[in-house]
Parts: sequence; C-alpha cells; structure tokens
Amino acid sequence: MTTPDLFDTPPPGPDRARVAELHRLLHHHAHRYYVLDEPEIPDAEYDRLFRELQAIETAHPELVTPDSPTQRVGGKPLAQFASVRHAVPMLSIRTETDTEASGAEAFDARVRRELGWGETEPAVEYVAELKFDGLAINLRYEQGVLVQAATRGDGEVGEDVTQNIRTIGQIPLRLPDGVPAILEVRGEVYLRRDDFNALNERQREKGEKTFVNPRNAAAGAVRQLDPAIAAQRPLSFFTYGLGEVTPGAVQVASHFAWLQLLKSWGFPVCEHVVIARGAPDLIAFHRRMGELRDSLPYDIDGVVYKVNRLDLQQQLGFVTREPRWAVAHKYPAQEMLTTVQAIEVQVGRTGKLTPVAKLAPVFVGGVTMTNATLHNEDEARRKDVRIGDTVIVRRAGDVIPEVVAVLPEKRLPGAEIFTMPRTCPVCGSAAAREEGEADYRCTGGLFCSAQRKQAILHFAHRRAVEIEGLGDKLVDQLVDSGVVNTLPDLYRLGLTALASLERMADKSAQNIVEALEKSKQTTLPRFLFGLGIRHVGEATAKALARHFGKLDAIMDASEEQLLQVADVGPVVAQSIRTFFEQPHNREVVEQLRACGVTWEEGEPAPAEVQPLAGKTFVLTGTLPTLSRDQAKDMLEAAGAKVAGSVSKKTDYVVAGAEAGSKLEKAQALGIAILDEAGLLALLEASAG
Ligand code: IVH
Repeated sequence: MTTPDLFDTPPPGPDRARVAELHRLLHHHAHRYYVLDEPEIPDAEYDRLFRELQAIETAHPELVTPDSPTQRVGGKPLAQFASVRHAVPMLSIRTETDTEASGAEAFDARVRRELGWGETEPAVEYVAELKFDGLAINLRYEQGVLVQAATRGDGEVGEDVTQNIRTIGQIPLRLPDGVPAILEVRGEVYLRRDDFNALNERQREKGEKTFVNPRNAAAGAVRQLDPAIAAQRPLSFFTYGLGEVTPGAVQVASHFAWLQLLKSWGFPVCEHVVIARGAPDLIAFHRRMGELRDSLPYDIDGVVYKVNRLDLQQQLGFVTREPRWAVAHKYPAQEMLTTVQAIEVQVGRTGKLTPVAKLAPVFVGGVTMTNATLHNEDEARRKDVRIGDTVIVRRAGDVIPEVVAVLPEKRLPGAEIFTMPRTCPVCGSAAAREEGEADYRCTGGLFCSAQRKQAILHFAHRRAVEIEGLGDKLVDQLVDSGVVNTLPDLYRLGLTALASLERMADKSAQNIVEALEKSKQTTLPRFLFGLGIRHVGEATAKALARHFGKLDAIMDASEEQLLQVADVGPVVAQSIRTFFEQPHNREVVEQLRACGVTWEEGEPAPAEVQPLAGKTFVLTGTLPTLSRDQAKDMLEAAGAKVAGSVSKKTDYVVAGAEAGSKLEKAQALGIAILDEAGLLALLEASAG
C-alpha cells in the first residue's frame, strides 16, 4: 500500500522547518555572543528561542540531533573517558627559552639552512602567534557537524571529551555549507583570568578547593566526567591549527590563509596573529607581546613562530615528534618553586596584622619576588604554608603575587603550623580578632609604632594633606629615633633636627621643611581623610565636609546626625563617633590646628542631594585613573548602589580595560555602558 514517497514525508506534528530555523538562529546568536563579542539580541531573547527548541525536542526526541544547540549541556556523567586514536598525530613543538634575539635568530637560521636558502633568497615569511597556556584539543567535524573532541594525550591516543567540549560556547557545533567533509581543527582550550578569579571566588564561597592557575582549572574542567560541572566553568577556545582534512577540499597555500578561512567558518582566532618577515620581525613580535603579556585577559607562556607557506612546511618536515617549521619561544615563567624562609607578621595603619611569607628570592613573571602575602590566618591555614616549605609562587597579570600551593612531599620534618601571634609583633599589645572578621588587629592604636608610622604616611599622602618627600624611609627614621611620635610633631620639626638625621642632605631637609609648610594650607576633606579614621575614605570625607561644613560639627555630631550623610551607614557612623570620643584624637586635631594647619570652612549643606539615588551600578575591568574603590565611593556619595553582578536591575555598567563576562552580559541585556569619562560626566551632570 505504501509508496516510498510516503516514507519520506515527515510525520505530521513537529514543525521541522521551525526546528531548522531555531538551529540556525541559535547558532548564529551563539557565534555573535561567544566569538564576535557582539550580541544582537538580549540574553532573554536567546533563552526564549532556546526553550522553544527544548520544548519541541522534549515532545519529539527523534528530532534531537548531535549538532542541536541544546546538546551543549545535558550529557550524562561518564565512568571514564573513551580513548581516541588521532588520525594525524598531535605533535609538540620545540621550545626556545633564549633571549628575544637569539631565540628567533637561531630558529630563522635553522629554517634557512634546512631549506638550503642562501644570502640571495628573501626573508622567510612566518606567522607569529601567542602560545596559549591551556590544553590542546582536536575537534573533528564530519559533514560540517562536530562529532568528536579529544585531548592530546600522548600525541597518538587521547581521550574523548566531546561532552565537555560541547559546553564551550565559542566552539561551533555545526559549520557552514561547503566545508571539507572531514575537518579536524586544533587549538587551545583555556580559561580567561577574570573567569578564573570568579571561579575561585565561587569555590571559596562554597568552602571548596581553589584552583592553582587558569590552566589547571581549564584542564580539570575538560577532564571532568560530569559535563554539568564542566558547563559551569566558562571555558574559552583559540584555534591555531589542523589535523585531518579531506585532501583537495580547499585550495589554501599558507597557514595564515587557513586561519582566515577557519575564522570565516566561525572558529575563534586570536587577534594577535601576524605575518612576520625574517628574524627582526619575530624579535619585534616577541618583545611587543612580552610587554602586552600582563595586560592580556588570559595567560600565555610564550609566542609561537611558524613558517607560513605550506609547501615549505612540507619541505622542512619533522624531526622525531617535532616539526622543523615551528618553534615556541618562551617567556620567563609566571610560576616558580621557591622556599619559605620565614613568615613575618606586618602591622598596617589600622592595626591589621598580615602574615607575609619571606621567600628565597625567585625570578617569576619578569621580576624578583621576595615576599608574598598570606592575607590572613585563615588563608595561611587553608594553604598550610609553613616555614621551610617548598612552595609554588605565581605572579601573572593583575593577579596579586602569591603563594599558590605547598609541595607537601618536600616538607621538612617538624615544620610547625603557622599561628597568628596573640600579641602585636611591633608593640606587644594584645592582638584581637573581632567576631565575623578574618583579620587580627593590634589593639595598641597610636601607642604602636608600626601604626604610628602608617598613620603619618597616610596623613602625608598625596590625596591627604600631601607632604612631598615624606616617604617610608624618612618616617621610619623619624619614628624610630623618637623625634616624631604624633602628627603634630611633624610640624615641630626644625631644619636642624631634620638635617641631623643620617643620610639627610641639607637641601633635602630644606625641601621637607618647605613641603611641611605648604601642607598646612589644606582642605577639610583632605584633612579629615588624612586623620585615618577607619572606614572614612576620600569620598566619605568629602561627603562629611559637604554635609557639615565645619570640622567641629563633625567632631560633635551624634550617630543619628552622621547617618543623615549620603555616604554614611551605621558602621561608618560608629567608627567616626569612636574616633572623636578618644580624647587623644581630639588633642591631635587641636594641636594640628595650633601648629597652623588650616582650611576653609563652609556652611552646612541644606539637604543631601542624592542625584543617583535608586540607580544600581556595576563596576568591571580596570579604569584608566580611578581605582575601583574610588569609583565606588563617588557613586555611593551620589546615592547610587554599587552591585557585584549584572542583572536586569542594573542601570549602568562602568567598564574599563579587560572587562570580561560582566560587560558581555550587560551588552546582551542592553544595559547602558559607561567608560570612566562617561562616569565622571554623569556624576558631574547629576551633581548639577
Ligand atoms: S602549534 C605542530 N600554536 O603548545 C604544531 N601550539 O608543544 C602544533 N600551544 O600543547 C602546535 N599555543 O597546545 C601551536 N599558537 C599555538 C599554540 C600552541 C599553545 C600549545 C599546544 C601544544 C604545545 C606545543
């Protein structure tokens, strides 16, 4: 009865055309979002399309195909990974660690010799790329559909990690028509630094183990048996090469042309890929990228040079497992091993005690590291750093230099667990840890010379009353010799006292005297900020000055009155009260005035203007001049709320250099985005 025709007609019900359309739309928008960084539609719209497809697939499981956008997540946990034999072995490359010039020159000379090129032949054309610090992956597409993703393994046999790789939004699941029937694309899976920091932050919040570096976190995610966990790690991908490709499918003569083609098919290719002619261009690239390295949003451990022409690559061939046409030229490592010689406890201005590991000097990330903060007791315990331990230290980009891990197998017998001293190492006063706080503080206040020094430096700071030339060496001398004990003592310093200090030239002493004289003429916000009241930053000082007009009014204000100030909450109000309740603090203020420190007093502001009240801001990336705290203070002073993550409730995102996923999210949600200039303009405009 039935004819072949009827068999080929789709059953009624599911809308196959709609499914195809949804595939097309979702692939398109995922590419805009993840690869091009230019979403065309808000997240919510993408989610709606995604849910529509999911609903159809739930009702008609027969319509689910491996390239469906819904198949990025949702695979089942595996007991173990299957092995994959690579159709074309995944090679490694020879590494040069030599200096900028000799590394590149040695490679170029070798290539020319092996090609048999003499002086008359032109410069060899290379492609210079970054060497990403992640893990190599082979992506296999058959008829344009991603069918398998594998790790490098030993180069011959890797592991099938397809489920996890599918979760990476930047990796296309399906390619446009016309690509080779078999196409293997190779590249590096990595984790951006901001995503790494956020991931570790989440791990810390959950009380779970943090990751040592972005590469380990990325490798852990790729080799995660449960793809649901892999999906929570925001991995990224860069394409840099090929595996098996149907012979003759495309006519491409150079590596660079291949990269362009791969890019046009939707693969992410790093923007720092250049054509370089001869060793001089390679050297320049190595230098330029070395300078850029710290500010890149991801880790690199070097650069890679590749002969551009494929025919020359073929002519050069391989030695054992390394191609003769490529070399990796490394930078100094950002992670090194060293030993902890001591753990010192430093005392900050507010008495905060910070354990600091004193390291055997080690060259890491381009500088010599001798210290690494251990932050606080909990952190030191969590990492369990002990004196004598061999540790991994890391210094990369904007990540704070730190001890990332201890090598327990190298621990000396009897090494003692670190404990915070219960007394201040400088003045011997009791050290106390308030409930709910991570830090111990010295309770000695200005009795503690360490706190005194910090208090003086803070008062002299450029953004406080500014005493030019009064740096930490001089303050150490002044406090240690007993010449200066309190802030007013500074203004009692005569030329003779200063000039009699060791290593102090007459001219320098004269300069300090002049700087002191100059600092006397200041402003109320600078003076208030300079007093170093806990929780009173520059913005709060300004808000207080604006609100009260006069110092005496602030000194005598009740908590209720202080709370009326835009920027002041209960903790800040309490701290201001406590400060001015101490007779010695009032005394310091009086003496400073008596020494001639003055400022113009104003009238109290009639009522607080909070032009940005009700607005929510999110700060991301590094602003050119303002620190994040300064921007936050300014916004809060204007009544705005500063939140940590972007949501529909966000009104503005202020984005600086290396803004990451928060900026992407804001763009997707269509939230207004400001740079620093835009922020300042908005604050100014709203202040009237
Ligand atoms: S090309 C035959 N290019 O470095 C050449 N590798 O030993 C194959 N890597 O584990 C590699 N960035 O994962 C190439 N731009 C780049 C690279 C790169 C990072 C890694 C790769 C491999 C190792 C090479």
